[in-house]
Amino acid sequence: MLTFKRLLLPLGIVLNGLLSPSLLYGQTKPKLTLDLSRAAAHVSPRLYGLMTEEINYSYDGGIYGELVRNRAFRDHADKADHWFLIKADGDSASMKLDTKHPVNQALPVSLHLKTTSANTPAGIANDGFWGIPVKPTTTYKGSFYAFTENAAKTAISASIESTDGKTVYAKAEIMGIGSSWKKFTYTLTTAQTAKPAADTRLVLRPATAGSYFFSLVSLFPPTFNNRTNGNRPDIMQLLADMKPSFLRLPGGNYLEGGMFSTRFDWKKTLGPIDYRPGHMGTWGYRSSDGMGLLEYLEWCEDLHMEPLLAVFAGYALNGDYLEKGPLLKPFVDEALEEIEYVTGDTTTAWGKKRAQDGHPAPFPLHYVEVGNEDGFDKSTSYNGRFEQFADAIKAKYPNLQVVATMGGKDWLGTRYPFDASKADVVDEHYYRNAFEMESDADHYDNYDRKGPKVFVGEWATREGSPTPNFNSALGDAAWMTGMERNSDIVIMSCSAPLFVNVNPGGMQWASDLIGYNTLSSYGSPSYYAQQMFNTYKGDEIIAIQGEGIPTQLQKLNHKDSLASVKPKTYPGLFYVATRDSKTGTVYLKVVNCLATAQNIDLELNGATKVKPAAKVITMKADKPEDTNTITEPKKIVPVNSKFNGVKNSFNYAFEPYSITILQLETK
Ligand code: AHR
Repeated sequence: MLTFKRLLLPLGIVLNGLLSPSLLYGQTKPKLTLDLSRAAAHVSPRLYGLMTEEINYSYDGGIYGELVRNRAFRDHADKADHWFLIKADGDSASMKLDTKHPVNQALPVSLHLKTTSANTPAGIANDGFWGIPVKPTTTYKGSFYAFTENAAKTAISASIESTDGKTVYAKAEIMGIGSSWKKFTYTLTTAQTAKPAADTRLVLRPATAGSYFFSLVSLFPPTFNNRTNGNRPDIMQLLADMKPSFLRLPGGNYLEGGMFSTRFDWKKTLGPIDYRPGHMGTWGYRSSDGMGLLEYLEWCEDLHMEPLLAVFAGYALNGDYLEKGPLLKPFVDEALEEIEYVTGDTTTAWGKKRAQDGHPAPFPLHYVEVGNEDGFDKSTSYNGRFEQFADAIKAKYPNLQVVATMGGKDWLGTRYPFDASKADVVDEHYYRNAFEMESDADHYDNYDRKGPKVFVGEWATREGSPTPNFNSALGDAAWMTGMERNSDIVIMSCSAPLFVNVNPGGMQWASDLIGYNTLSSYGSPSYYAQQMFNTYKGDEIIAIQGEGIPTQLQKLNHKDSLASVKPKTYPGLFYVATRDSKTGTVYLKVVNCLATAQNIDLELNGATKVKPAAKVITMKADKPEDTNTITEPKKIVPVNSKFNGVKNSFNYAFEPYSITILQLETK
């Protein structure tokens, strides 16, 4: 049988080392033996979560619903980025930033429009985040501040138009523009016949010529759960389908900021958007802070996740830091207040503030992370900083688990000696290629079980751009088998980054889990791999003995070849099994990274009953480089099928380049 198969294989495949030596030379037949007589350990209920920060237009231009870009005119100090003057040829209308008429401290800048032509009054237009998404029968809610220097009250129209102005998709008249700042609201509704379009803009056009000032121009499409200031439904649905257990927020580098003054200053992200100044983010653009602390928490609530709150720990990306001591104390106090904002009841000062902001009920919180990637802090101050934060957090909130960003076995965690004895959990980060992920999938098999638990707070196989390809999904899946098998110690994990706006200029970091443009969104093969792993998992880890596991040979890149690197042989098949203790359902996950189907003998030891029929979930690709894109979003997705031959001993052919889950009923 094996010989016959081998004869059918193209010679190239054999020569490239893609077929396992054991298959080639007819050694031990590949076999997986599951020990169902007992649970080897328990699966962490929080194993799979999400990591988020403002990167790749994740919030503004991403999940956060706001459609107007540079709504507060602060993205550029000298010019109104993304705003355009709309005027007839020869018209002398003008538009410029103004700082003499602040609305309030958070809105110090406005846009001053002077129009002269009475017949065809000029207007201002915003091109949104790569367009304003037009969809049929859709109601958009808008608002803006405005006043006029004209003597008489006047009106302004708001419309969504094509960029050439020839098609008006929706329009509203806003009356009563007077001589002092006032906030106006409006709604725009598209027709049933409107065709989806993104070559569009929002236009505000005064009815009469004169002098006008605008500030905080906003427009929202329908949002997930109809939240005010809420999130984009399609992206939220993709996340909901992953069934994540937690959200690590707000970063990442975004937490730390380029400097102290641009850290995620949570207090400035609370309350109505009219009072949020926004700030410069760490990935090259300003954040509106529309996604503020409460919005993060409501995002968690909407998807039934818990927040995993990362607090600023006195270190910024430019290397500025504060040593342990009195100067650091205000930041420790801020972290305690932040925890109170999340968890305190309304008798506490910050719980009361949260209630005033619209959410009287406290949020659940079990994990607080102190900083982000503090291994980059060459001063080694994290030892003292972490201690001061951990002591204060534990003193006030003894039940909270404190996560350290050092003390793990990743390169940042070991960059300088760190005393992790006060850490309940250590955060490790791994960004790698598929070879590195697969060859290290046993990473946690021999971890010390006596030390702190592990949170893999950022990890990803980085092949494919803007979103990972199927080879990344294989690398991710192999890595996940290792985390899941060891989820007695790896209690939480979340890949990163989560999002990318795939429009030109939208990406700062390649290989992101979910991609979107103005009108639609899609999951990468890695997204579906994670969705599969989290959807189909039990609460008990089942020990598996593997024999004759086929191997693969490292593919060398140009640099390796020049350096005469010897290719490494490593497994080509990865596996993990868990069981639902109540139903007896066993989820056997097998990742076949090889170009050929793998016939594996499966032995279910210790199972009293085994049903012959199994549900099978398979995701596969013809080539590792295959991928999903915004135009071909579902090229690679999991497919369900049935298998009818389950016995205590049976054989299953795992397809080439595939991730397979066998759902075996054993009760
Ligand atoms: O995920 C992108 C970045 O990678 C994160 O902001 C940072 O924590 C890490 O270095």
